[in-house]
Amino acid sequence: MTDVATPKSSGIDLGTPLTLRCGVVVKNRILKSAMSDSLGDGAGNPSAAQIALYRRWADGGAAVSIIGEVQTDPHALEKPGNLVVAADSSTEMFARLTQAGTAEGAGLWAQLGHAGALSYAPLGRPRGPSGLRLDGLDCAELSPGDIDQLPALFANGAATAKASGFTGVQVHAAHGFLLSQFLSPLFNRRSDRWGGSLGNRARLLIETIGAVRAAVGPAFPVAVKLNATDRIDGGFSEQEASAVIGMLDKTSVDLIEISGGTYFPGARSSGGGRPGEPYFLEFARNVRGLTKKPLAAVGGFKTYRQAAGAVREGTLDMIGLARALVVAPDLPGQWASGVAAAPEFPRFENPREGAVTAWYTLRLAALGGAPLPGFPVEEASGLPDANAALDAYDARDRARHELWRNRFG
Ligand SMILES: Cc1cc2nc3c(=O)[nH]c(=O)nc-3n(C[C@H](O)[C@H](O)[C@H](O)COP(=O)(O)O)c2cc1C
Repeated sequence: MTDVATPKSSGIDLGTPLTLRCGVVVKNRILKSAMSDSLGDGAGNPSAAQIALYRRWADGGAAVSIIGEVQTDPHALEKPGNLVVAADSSTEMFARLTQAGTAEGAGLWAQLGHAGALSYAPLGRPRGPSGLRLDGLDCAELSPGDIDQLPALFANGAATAKASGFTGVQVHAAHGFLLSQFLSPLFNRRSDRWGGSLGNRARLLIETIGAVRAAVGPAFPVAVKLNATDRIDGGFSEQEASAVIGMLDKTSVDLIEISGGTYFPGARSSGGGRPGEPYFLEFARNVRGLTKKPLAAVGGFKTYRQAAGAVREGTLDMIGLARALVVAPDLPGQWASGVAAAPEFPRFENPREGAVTAWYTLRLAALGGAPLPGFPVEEASGLPDANAALDAYDARDRARHELWRNRFG
């Protein structure tokens, strides 16, 4: 399927390089947004399939690929397929990964994660800003002493990521993981200096960015991924997100990527914004004037026209793509060569919660040349069975428990 490319109306298009405040130039405007690919080896190190996948994305033409959920604390993992940046990580496998992911002048950034209250319970310690016992969420409360250590934990992870050959980092403050939990009144019910007012709830994010910057130095890209809204009553709102963008403007971050939604029980799944438009484009238009930082948004971008239009109108400096680059990993290259292709997205019938993401994750394994038995999902046609994908995905995670425990205890 193709859509008609709109003629250029300003000097900036998807192929225009972008110079970040730290001095690094990214070669075009397409960002492969963070995806937890679950292709670690089960003990926090990269696998051959993961190396092949990031080579594929680098060859596909994205300016920067972000690896999702790279953990700094193995007890705050999102899934046992996550990478862990630690002093005893496999230097050889990380070097191979970062070499492959930076082919063709691409950047490869680590998304520094910490699942906090949503840490994978079989192997981690779910702890968040407040202790909560709800249907679907059971976590303990972090003590003030624990919280004081968190910026340094992210900073150590950033320094290790840099030493491992990553060419940038992204601080994950979206989707209901730790830093997003602190921002959200639903997770954060504290009354000390980490809770209550928005300034207090944002304190951990701002201190973390400062610590990460100090660890990596002035010439290394530090990005942040922030929710425009939690998309649930009582959660982090657009008004609060706008104020946090004003706070981020005063920090040393190089790029603010806007996303939305949370894994707090009962929250709506992805979506939002004006019908037919990418989810957070309208929000980005509203906050464009609040910051001079480069802005990216991810969510719902499907066509060349949408992506090029958002850059051309001056709202976004980079376009984040996730599922589109699972379906069509070489889409940026196609767009650059003037083919305004729009990828065909699969449709799913009655998927269980998490099943669609599981299907995309299994497709990543196939793209890396290591499909799970029964899931050679290279061709995204027909009616794929997301629920079967979820079962296979969960079974793979269970099979990794022992590997994770052997390394991290
Ligand atoms: C398989 C899969 C894994 C994801 N993992 C992460 C992640 O680790 N970190 C993150 O910030 N977002 C993650 N996301 C969300 C995407 O980055 C993106 O925000 C979302 O998919 C919407 O963008 P899209 O419409 O281009 O897919 C994931 C999405 C998918 C499909």
